Amino acid sequence: MPSIKAAIIGFGTVGKGVYKIVDEKREQIKKQTGYTVDIVAVLVRDITKTRNIFPGTVLTDNIDDILNNPEITVIFEAIVDEEPAYTYLSQAIEKGIHIITANKKMFAKHGPALLKHAEFRNIQVGYEATTAGGVPIIRTIGNLLSGDRVKRIQGILNGTSNFILTDMRTEGVPFKTALEDAQKLGFAEADPTDDVSGTDAFCKLMILSSLAFGSQPEWEKVSVVGIDHIQTDDVVEASNAGYRYRHVADIRQNDDGSLTAKVGPVLLEANHPLYSIDGVDNAVIVETEYLGALTLIGPGAGMYPTGSAMVADLLHIIRQQVTELIPN
Ligand code: NDP
Ligand code: HSE
Repeated sequence: MPSIKAAIIGFGTVGKGVYKIVDEKREQIKKQTGYTVDIVAVLVRDITKTRNIFPGTVLTDNIDDILNNPEITVIFEAIVDEEPAYTYLSQAIEKGIHIITANKKMFAKHGPALLKHAEFRNIQVGYEATTAGGVPIIRTIGNLLSGDRVKRIQGILNGTSNFILTDMRTEGVPFKTALEDAQKLGFAEADPTDDVSGTDAFCKLMILSSLAFGSQPEWEKVSVVGIDHIQTDDVVEASNAGYRYRHVADIRQNDDGSLTAKVGPVLLEANHPLYSIDGVDNAVIVETEYLGALTLIGPGAGMYPTGSAMVADLLHIIRQQVTELIPN
């Protein structure tokens, strides 16, 4: 049975999820694609920490161990921040390695350049996990709606914020406790500032903007507000009056082709499609010229939803690119 050798960059919540799913779904992947997939290397910052990996997987803190291994043809990237992720993935593309990323902060800014570089080198890029966790919004807009024209996208794109707002409403807990719960569950970033300030949802909205409209609005012109100023009393009071706070990212294309976007908390009435989205769930409403409105809902963060989106990217790449995945 031919074997595809892959590496994981980053072994936190997401990297571990990918590793476990690839292992647990080994037989299924084999049946679906005709290939086995072996994770042969894992890159972390601190190699002294104990990691739950098989003896056949090399643990390293040196990216060259991965980039210079001619067997490796796919990299899953799940580290934090723009750098060194962008540099590593650019180098991977240069080496002919297909890339799959969950790193929205990096991809919001560098995604267009990476995609262009990859296309030039005939390399596949999977980025389903960057936006809305396990919700398959990238492939929906990029493939399934490609015969239509997207006019507007509205969504709850940060699981941590939605989890906090839900917890404050249903449990009456303070912001800090709700955030700590989201951190314990692996939903929040290691530094949760981007989650609660709106930056994380903004990055995801910019990724969707590039995909749906082929461009992004000027970042400085987008109003970005988080939920960090909202108190439990505000949430409970709104709920008693029949409203719910939701953190919503919204972008639309105007008649002249320009884009208008905003990100921030809004008070919604019960008849709004985002009113009932609770916990870590994300929801994305896509309005198009021909289809009308489509809403996708599902877990927006966490080890398994995100890992499953990255493994789905791998299967998609295998189906697209079988001939170049096994080196001669
Ligand atoms: P974690 O903080 O849990 O894990 C990060 C991992 O990356 C750690 O293993 C860390 O190494 C490693 N790492 C960080 N910097 C470097 C570096 N410079 N070189 C090598 N390794 C490095 O993060 P998550 O797993 O939660 O998130 C990973 C990425 O996925 C982020 O970009 C995040 O925004 C994105 N994401 C997260 C989701 C989630 O639900 N958590 C969902 C969707 C996307 P070490 O263990 O040694 O510290
Ligand atoms: N911290 C992010 C969130 C992870 O809470 O939505 C998923 O991108």
